[in-house]
Amino acid sequence: MRIEGLPGDVFDGRPVIGICNTWSELNPCNAHFRELAEHVKRGVWQAGGFPVEFPVTSLGEAIMRPTAMLFRNLASMDVEESIRANPIDGVVLMCGCDKTTPSLVMGAASCDLPALVVSGGPMLNGKYQGRDIGSGTDLWRFSEEVKAGAMSLHRFMQVESCMSRSAGHCMTMGTASTMAGMVEALGLALPENAAIPAVDARRSVLAHLAGRRIVEMVAEDLRISRILTRPAFENAIRVNAALGGSTNAVIHLLAIAGRVGVPLTLDDWDRLGHDCPTLVNLMPSGQYLMEDFYYAGGVPAVARALGEHGLLHKDALTVNGKTIWENCREAPNWNADVIRSWDRPLVEHGGIAVLRGNLAPNGAVIKPSAASPHLMRHAGRAIVFESIEDYHRRIDDASLEAEEESILVLKNCGPKGYPGMAEVGNMGLPPKLLKRGITDMVRISDARMSGTAYGTVVLHICPEAAVGGPLAHVRSGDRIELDVEQRRLHLDVPREEMARRSREWRPVPPPMSGGYQRLYFDHVLQADTGADFDFLVGCRGNAVPRESH
Ligand code: FES
Repeated sequence: MRIEGLPGDVFDGRPVIGICNTWSELNPCNAHFRELAEHVKRGVWQAGGFPVEFPVTSLGEAIMRPTAMLFRNLASMDVEESIRANPIDGVVLMCGCDKTTPSLVMGAASCDLPALVVSGGPMLNGKYQGRDIGSGTDLWRFSEEVKAGAMSLHRFMQVESCMSRSAGHCMTMGTASTMAGMVEALGLALPENAAIPAVDARRSVLAHLAGRRIVEMVAEDLRISRILTRPAFENAIRVNAALGGSTNAVIHLLAIAGRVGVPLTLDDWDRLGHDCPTLVNLMPSGQYLMEDFYYAGGVPAVARALGEHGLLHKDALTVNGKTIWENCREAPNWNADVIRSWDRPLVEHGGIAVLRGNLAPNGAVIKPSAASPHLMRHAGRAIVFESIEDYHRRIDDASLEAEEESILVLKNCGPKGYPGMAEVGNMGLPPKLLKRGITDMVRISDARMSGTAYGTVVLHICPEAAVGGPLAHVRSGDRIELDVEQRRLHLDVPREEMARRSREWRPVPPPMSGGYQRLYFDHVLQADTGADFDFLVGCRGNAVPRESH
């Protein structure tokens, strides 16, 4: 390491702080991370540590194919093995775009060193013709306008440049913002980490302070397992409900909990989040964007509201050495329209509803705050698409027998089926219905959906179609009943007929005969436990018993 120009005394035994960086030009949301890492380094030096920055696999949500989620577990292995194999005493995790947060936290959790997250921060609000537009959320809306013939492609491209105009990740309450909120709620990041815009100088200050603090954490031996406790996960689930956060958080938090051995189930999401109102008025559930959320008070203001209403484990420890309540008990709310008060919430019962029934014996999820109230109890005939290609082939066909009350069913998009459980669950509506002004229909699949998306969309059906779950046996014309209040998803087909269809079903072959995709197919778990690999669940510590020479 002397060839890097380091003086000899940096090897005097001072704490070596790894800065695990997901910078990549193929991941624009994290493209500013080299500069941000410099601020972390300043803090580390200042506190007497020795910073060493290293790259790990960066997952760009909008660019990777077939889906960034296919590579979350791979990236987590990269992180885990890089931390363990190198002489690192503590690590700062630089996270931004959707999957970079869970993959880094999963990897670090399996090593159990002191670890602290610095998020990259959201983009500035999109601005178009005098109004705010949000990444993802308005993109879906405008693309439907293009399909319905109400917006030209030229105008659409203009909108795109107005939407993505600064460094940072999607600035709606999509998965990146949600996961930044989750690490703050878990206590893994300094207060205000989630919402400071990427280009705000206070983001650099936070990175600097994180660099200082990780050195102290090493001295205190404050390991990630002391932060990631069951109460911390319960806090995060409730904060997610109050944020109106992404359904993707369900899968990622289940996977993170699995790495530290905290028992967390799908039903915990419903049980803990159900009584919790959605307070944060951000797209896709509401109106505002992350920049507004930061100016209004961010996650500390939300955590304070939860604490004042008995829905926060106040003594959960956070990375700054204080409890979450010590961090947030005096947090102000500067804008009661962005962060609503308890008696004037955006949605009375927020959170994630977990559905069960003969169509989803092991569960499925829906986000009520992003769904249409009139469809929360609904019955209709299925229009079945066997794959996403089948959907693309037929959805524009004017002869597709789709009515407003039909239910769109998409199969083979789960963890094994896609593979990688792509964000295709919010499939667009048939153009002939869009042209009639219909903006929402019930959609059901084993896929995920983007945290920026909205609609009455049932996701993560478990077991998925590709392993022969009941979803595999649904046929067009079958009647399906959805009752969110009763948490029920029912396929109205006699048991004997389902048994007959099941005998006719043939398994989906693996996507590839070798390589990573084959490893993924053979080892990925189902969505209800977080879609981790079976051999990655658990904490393996950071000890390396053997030398290399
Ligand atoms: Fe990276 Fe949305 S594409 S956060």
